[in-house]
Amino acid sequence: MIQPAAATPTGPTGTVTVRVPAKVNVQLSVGGLRPDGFHGLANVFLAVGLYDSISATRADAPLLTVSGPDAAQVPQDRTNLAARAAELLAERHGLAPDVHLHIAKDIPVAGGMAGGSADAAGALLACDRLWGLNTPREELLALCAELGSDVPFSFAGGAALGQGRGERLTPLEVGGAFHWVFAVADGGLSTPDVYRECDRLREAAGTGSSAADVPEPVASEALLAALRAGEAQALAATLHNDLQPAALSLRPSLAETLETGLAAGALAALVSGSGPTCAFLTADADSASRTAHTLTASGTCRTARATTGPAPGATVV
Ligand code: C5P
Repeated sequence: MIQPAAATPTGPTGTVTVRVPAKVNVQLSVGGLRPDGFHGLANVFLAVGLYDSISATRADAPLLTVSGPDAAQVPQDRTNLAARAAELLAERHGLAPDVHLHIAKDIPVAGGMAGGSADAAGALLACDRLWGLNTPREELLALCAELGSDVPFSFAGGAALGQGRGERLTPLEVGGAFHWVFAVADGGLSTPDVYRECDRLREAAGTGSSAADVPEPVASEALLAALRAGEAQALAATLHNDLQPAALSLRPSLAETLETGLAAGALAALVSGSGPTCAFLTADADSASRTAHTLTASGTCRTARATTGPAPGATVV
């Protein structure tokens, strides 16, 4: 049984709520397919101000519920990465994972913005505090890496370079807020499918797709300098996503979404991670708001959201 003693104060309802951000990859350089089925990455993550909230409440048995407009697309059983996070933490401490996790979902589902990873990071922190474990941050980050390549960054937030399969993080300095618009598509894309399509396109182009064929990806110095300086124009010139051709190959209509945002005045456009969400970097808040309106009215996406990054990582609220 889970001991109630020494738990972080949970408020009158005995619930711990954690807010976790979405991410955009400002650089996603993909190396060759490794023997373990992953690709080596140079992955520059930026957390942005779209959030899921994960609440953990004591219960007699594990329970997962989800609210929000896209709740129906989210698995509400043990396959949900948030449930796996609670199980992993409980297992490491010899506890039963008897917790009610509630996900209030605002991050696009299967959208290339690490929404599932955010929920896992949030569940891990919420359960850790609910159960009074107060696990050191480094240990929580190691558990995050076991759960998925993007989970450590969802936990950490801010901006970071992810190496290895994306889980080995180096925090990055950011000199100011960047203004973004995210065009949310109807329906998601599967991340493994997009990586597979990337490999297929490389094979078709004759360059090969294995780790022996593709050069080791490296972070762009110009991009890191633009982040440090907080200069949107300079960042716009260096944004890069190796998964974009694969996402466009699987969802050709995204080309029109990208063009629409650029025509509306965005400085740059790219597919977010494995897509299908499209990300637009804009000069300022006004431009972001105009770009979001134009995109929403265009019918080339389901909706468009303006926000800023960097945003903080998993935070108890
Ligand atoms: O680590 P995560 O569970 O998020 O990865 C999901 C899938 O995405 C992997 O099973 C793999 O197919 C693909 N992937 C990859 N290389 C990475 C990260 C993910 O091929 N660096």
